[in-house]
Amino acid sequence: MEKCHIAIAGLGVVGAETARHLIEKQSILSEKAGTSLTLTAISARAKGKDRGFDMSGLTWCDNPVDLANLADVDVVVELMGGSEGPALALTKAALSAGKHVVTANKAMIALHGVELAQLAEEKGVQICFESSVAGGIPALKILREGLAANDISSVSGILNGTCNYILSEMEETGRPFDDVLKEAQELGYAEADPTFDVDGIDAAHKLTILDAIAYGNVPDFDKLSITGIRDVSAEDISFAAELGYRIRLIGRATSEGVACVEPVFLPEASALAKVTGPLNAVYYEASPVNTISATGPGAGAGPTASAVLADIIDVAAGRHSFAFGKPVALLSKATVSDEALVTSGYYLRLEVADEKGVLAAVTDILKSHDISVETLIQKIHEEDKSASLVMVLHETDQASMAAAALQLSSMSDVHSTSRAFTVLR
Ligand SMILES: NC(=O)c1ccc[n+]([C@@H]2O[C@H](COP(=O)([O-])OP(=O)(O)OC[C@H]3O[C@@H](n4cnc5c(N)ncnc54)[C@H](OP(=O)(O)O)[C@@H]3O)[C@@H](O)[C@H]2O)c1
Repeated sequence: MEKCHIAIAGLGVVGAETARHLIEKQSILSEKAGTSLTLTAISARAKGKDRGFDMSGLTWCDNPVDLANLADVDVVVELMGGSEGPALALTKAALSAGKHVVTANKAMIALHGVELAQLAEEKGVQICFESSVAGGIPALKILREGLAANDISSVSGILNGTCNYILSEMEETGRPFDDVLKEAQELGYAEADPTFDVDGIDAAHKLTILDAIAYGNVPDFDKLSITGIRDVSAEDISFAAELGYRIRLIGRATSEGVACVEPVFLPEASALAKVTGPLNAVYYEASPVNTISATGPGAGAGPTASAVLADIIDVAAGRHSFAFGKPVALLSKATVSDEALVTSGYYLRLEVADEKGVLAAVTDILKSHDISVETLIQKIHEEDKSASLVMVLHETDQASMAAAALQLSSMSDVHSTSRAFTVLR
């Protein structure tokens, strides 16, 4: 590219920071790209708003989709968000007009990525979305470029900083989920509507993208099994610590077809368990490289703009990558793991009546599903003649665990059961 003219749609947290860097660091970024990078056009909802950078001389479009048809634009940067609506309309229009697209929009890529990558290939342009997964960590570049020659046995990570902040605060202070969520909202770590974060949807969008690149699949959000952190209790976090574990919301894709987001028990000495606060981390198990991990800020203006700018530099410098690591025609349909073949350890807490024979009945049910107990803690609550039975169970398959948990929960002496948390060793 002799010159690279850039348009940005969306001038919020990420867009305004990206624009500011393009203007204030134009010469150093242009040197890295080997061509001159110039921001020429912008769009957002409120035209008169101060965005913290000099907008004079830039073309303003009220309708973001109009950026796609400006003659002096080579790269359209989509930073509005939303899987449908103007973000999708602009991205399709820009690619159709033969312009490269850079976006941080994980929801749009998880749900429409293959169609957009196909359009980009047909038009001979690129669609880049490094910033959509783990913010400032170059999680996709590590996988797609750095580990291109590897067989990936698993990619897993802490992909949502809000959940990690909430879980680590619960762990440190012993407070319940609702309390810590409220505080996270006041501190700006959680949105007013926290659904996408705490219910695991945001992490699942990111895992869909990692899974597609790791295994050469068509991204398939629907194949994921998704559980958020709303039912992680202060009791389970405390018992986890007593047993030498920490609970983290982990997105995990494996070569066996596992693709799930769920709160899991991790040994406290493991790399991911040590990640606290709003950080993200990604852990790759691959051959021949063995293991790689990367930790860093997964959101925020600076870290996310860092990844957006890196994509802009790649495109301007002519560094080409296939969006999902291969031409679209070579991507396969995602396989779904067989519940009967995927095994792991489990943690289960039962609140039971403190009666003779209850423990024996519980272990009999587990035995009937071929499940054995690795560790057991029994805590008696004298005040109401109840007891907590806390168990770490040896490796078993998902289907057996689900059947045993169901049978246990229907016992008359069992008042309640925790979720059967996966224990990763
Ligand atoms: N924030 C992060 O840390 C982070 C991290 C990774 C990825 N991302 C992704 O980056 C994208 C942007 O996130 P953000 O946090 O920067 O969002 P944001 O602060 O809410 O900004 C959204 C921007 O889009 C503009 N916009 C929304 N609808 C529009 C429309 N119909 N027409 C024109 N402009 C419109 C808004 O205009 P007004 O300002 O005029 O309202 C605003 O400038 C999202 O896809 C998000 O998932 C964000």
